[in-house]
Amino acid sequence: MRDVAVIGVGWPKWGELWKKDIRNIFVEAALMAIEDAGVDHIDSMYVASMSPGLWSKQEHIGALMADYLGQTPIPAVRVESACASGGMAVRLGFIEVASGMSDIVLVGGVEKMWTGEDFTAVLATAADQEYEAFHGLTFPALYALMARRHMHEFGTKREQLAMVSVKNHANGARNPRAQYQREITVEAVLNSPPVADPLNLLDCSPVTDGAAAIILAPVDLARKIAKDRPIVQIIGSGAATDSIALADRESYVELPAVKKAAEIAYKMAGVGPEDIDLAEVHDCFTIAEIIVTEDLGFFEKGKGGEAVEQGLTKIGGKIPVNTSGGLKSKGHPVGATGVAQIVEITEQLWGVSGERQVEGAKIGLAQNMGGSGASSTVHILKRID
Ligand code: COA
Repeated sequence: MRDVAVIGVGWPKWGELWKKDIRNIFVEAALMAIEDAGVDHIDSMYVASMSPGLWSKQEHIGALMADYLGQTPIPAVRVESACASGGMAVRLGFIEVASGMSDIVLVGGVEKMWTGEDFTAVLATAADQEYEAFHGLTFPALYALMARRHMHEFGTKREQLAMVSVKNHANGARNPRAQYQREITVEAVLNSPPVADPLNLLDCSPVTDGAAAIILAPVDLARKIAKDRPIVQIIGSGAATDSIALADRESYVELPAVKKAAEIAYKMAGVGPEDIDLAEVHDCFTIAEIIVTEDLGFFEKGKGGEAVEQGLTKIGGKIPVNTSGGLKSKGHPVGATGVAQIVEITEQLWGVSGERQVEGAKIGLAQNMGGSGASSTVHILKRID
């Protein structure tokens, strides 16, 4: 296997992009990444997107994006794993470069969610249609069940859930690409409209249009064309699946797919949770960040809430989590999310994250998740000198 580096990134501003359609949104991010990498062509492309068919009535977007990017006849294909589509596409791009099949691969993610379609119903297609969605279980409701159980088993406090959101909004307020660039308070979260008890509006990631892209290449090539910045290598890639329905799980307070993906990635990278300097994790709802930080091994099971309260996951804390603002503040255009996580970690390791910079960051982790944890990816990136 060849060593693989991230050599370019692109991430335009996210939000409600009513004046742009899915192809414009994707192409803008892809061109930014190509320009940033300084390459004059790409060999192959993966386009992560959960549901362009339902939101934009557009399928076949691998070819569509290659066409509008002016890159035909390269191979291009859409990758779908619900909200983990981005992470899965990164893994496929990584495998393609590592295998020697291609040298320069673009991995982009895109979702156009503001189209007038019922976004809650579209998102719910990533749950079990027969046993969950049909009966009215939405994603906020599924994560609310997990939150209640976590509170019951470990005494996790309602305020600790809110603190996840407060921390992530504080980071997102310093990220010019985030959808919601404003700080909030615990009181604001507790007083925001209820969505699915105990989760309120400010415990939920928003509905977002957006795209992000990265360019992957072998480390040897990266060294030749690298700009004046360190090489960032993907040293571990893990992916796993689990039961699609929450009711089929043995426990509501852990996510086996996250644990398995992390185990694979840590083993490949030859590092453990104690070596990670910062992480981007899938905080689609505040409880998700708490459970995921436990399952990645950063904190003991049941202690994720306390860790947030103690400030361990803030920038400057033991392990800064979601320096980008997380899904909560920066937005969650589902197919793009896993790719933007890699952009954030790469920029942190390059040392170009400005006000959000984690000083001396050398190893970063990105965890992306589909549905209520039926699929997950974990990538570990390292700055190599
Ligand atoms: N965070 C912060 N602000 C938000 C927000 C969020 N998640 N969602 C909406 N807002 C803001 C809006 O900008 C709006 O502000 P304004 O009045 O100043 O313009 C206000 O809150 C009300 O927005 P509205 O669009 O009416 O909210 P809504 O009730 O239709 O939707 C949610 C709110 C939380 C239900 C929706 O964002 C949602 O479904 N999120 C979850 C998405 C999801 O499930 N993703 C997949 C995860 S697995």
